[in-house]
Amino acid sequence: MKTVKGRVTILTDNVVPGRSELIGEHGFSAYIETGKGNFLFDTGRGKTVVYNALLLKKDLTTINKIVLSHGHHDHTGGLPDVLRIQLKKTIDVYAHPYVFAYKYRGKKGKETYGGIPFARGYLEKLGARFIIEEGYQQIEDGVFLTGEVPRETSFEGGDMDDRFVKLDGGRIIPDIIQDDQSMVIHTRKGLMIVLGCAHAGIINTLKYITQKTGVDRIYCVVGGTHIGFSGEVQLTESIKALKSYNIQHLVPSHCTGPAAITRIKGAFEDIFQFSHVGWSIEF
Ligand SMILES: [Fe+2]
Ligand SMILES: [Fe+2]
Repeated sequence: MKTVKGRVTILTDNVVPGRSELIGEHGFSAYIETGKGNFLFDTGRGKTVVYNALLLKKDLTTINKIVLSHGHHDHTGGLPDVLRIQLKKTIDVYAHPYVFAYKYRGKKGKETYGGIPFARGYLEKLGARFIIEEGYQQIEDGVFLTGEVPRETSFEGGDMDDRFVKLDGGRIIPDIIQDDQSMVIHTRKGLMIVLGCAHAGIINTLKYITQKTGVDRIYCVVGGTHIGFSGEVQLTESIKALKSYNIQHLVPSHCTGPAAITRIKGAFEDIFQFSHVGWSIEF
């Protein structure tokens, strides 16, 4: 497998470092520079991605591809702003078929919409060229997307109880966020893995990636894990299971939440790093 050199920088996260003008929001976005071009992984909720990129001197007009980890608004809300500043007429946007599903939470009458806040046609008018794919795929030499992740562990799947999808025709089904996917980069230091929210579960995601790639040396895992919303059992069991992976840098972000981040820090002092806007790693 060809390896890739580059850098990942967080543009949107819930946390900002002290004494900086960077701004935080509940969302995630990462700027990925490689010798094969630059990518944007998620776009945050909308208020921070372009602003923070300017401060961090990450040129969003040079990106070749945009990847959406899933349809939630805190990962897709910045899409129009990013599309508007592109110099090329169109830009490829990679996503799972369910990215546009009508996702909502709560009982009828009190539902809150949590999906992508824009119509596909509107985004296409702004230059998005959607590449819709369900499965594991290569998007550039050495750069892959997991697509849908099989749910295998018994302890992951928290925070799914009141999530629904309204299908065309009005049928309503439980939403297990099938569109959730992560990015995998083959580097000479091991795998660089970028998570959106890891709604499939961080362990299911790592299991699937190590199985698909045949590589068990993981250089870095960064991104949302949703563990903070998923209950005590999932947190404890995920920490236990994470111990069996050969990870050099563990950077739980965004929807991991401060309490779970603190627990993970305690369990992985030697490999843990605090996530924040502007956090960056070379690979
Ligand atoms: Fe999220
Ligand atoms: Fe999410």
